[in-house]
Amino acid sequence: MAPPSGCSLLVIGALGVFALDCFARAQKNSTLIFTKENTIRKCSCSADIRDCDYSLANLMCSCKTVLPFAVEQTSYNDHLTIWFTDTSALGPLLNFTLVRDLKLSLCSANILPTEYLAICGLKRLRISTEAKHPSPEQSLLIHDGGERESREKPMLLHQGWQTCMSISFLDMALFNRESSLKSYSIANSASMASNFPYFSYFRTFPVLSNKNYVVTFIY
Ligand SMILES: *[C@@H]1O[C@H](CO)[C@@H](O)[C@H](O)[C@H]1NC(C)=O
Ligand SMILES: *[C@@H]1O[C@H](CO)[C@@H](O)[C@H](O)[C@H]1NC(C)=O
Repeated sequence: MAPPSGCSLLVIGALGVFALDCFARAQKNSTLIFTKENTIRKCSCSADIRDCDYSLANLMCSCKTVLPFAVEQTSYNDHLTIWFTDTSALGPLLNFTLVRDLKLSLCSANILPTEYLAICGLKRLRISTEAKHPSPEQSLLIHDGGERESREKPMLLHQGWQTCMSISFLDMALFNRESSLKSYSIANSASMASNFPYFSYFRTFPVLSNKNYVVTFIY
């Protein structure tokens, strides 16, 4: 048999890289954060864990206890799941972070006040409130000029909140309701603060360098 030519070696090499790439993708873990008894646990899970099953998560995932300031101001490019019991625990974890695919599970029967969480770059939101009322998980897709967003993704990830192209305001009180998730998006938000004089959040928010961001209210 003739020795393989340079060309076929190249093909084999490329296939190898492709296979490795697929393997790495299949192995990709998701991030799960939960708060329990005043501690924050951050886990990397290879399997889906049933909502609010803390002991299963501790068993199946690779988890560590993190300090509150260590999880602040981060960005998550893939799935992030958070199990929480009240707004005060969720705020420091999520307010002003960049998350593309978020799942929030309320693991208590607490009534949540109307308070808004600001999330940058949110594409998909799933919520579950099983501990409160037995309803199926809900999911919402947010479309907002996705092409522009994906082109600017690397810049966005490195510079964080300041360069945010789309902001979602999540009304925490939606967890009290059994009605379905709704959203409302507004593009070209340059005059947002004057268009929504009663939405005081625009005054307290950190200034964004980009003036044409898209705002989505989720309620
Ligand atoms: C993926 O999750 C498993 C547990 O489900 C863990 O043992 C492993 O270290 C994780 N891998 C990475 C890269 O975090
Ligand atoms: C998020 O931050 C804004 C501005 O500081 C604040 O008004 C709001 O209450 C925070 N939301 C939560 C859920 O903590």
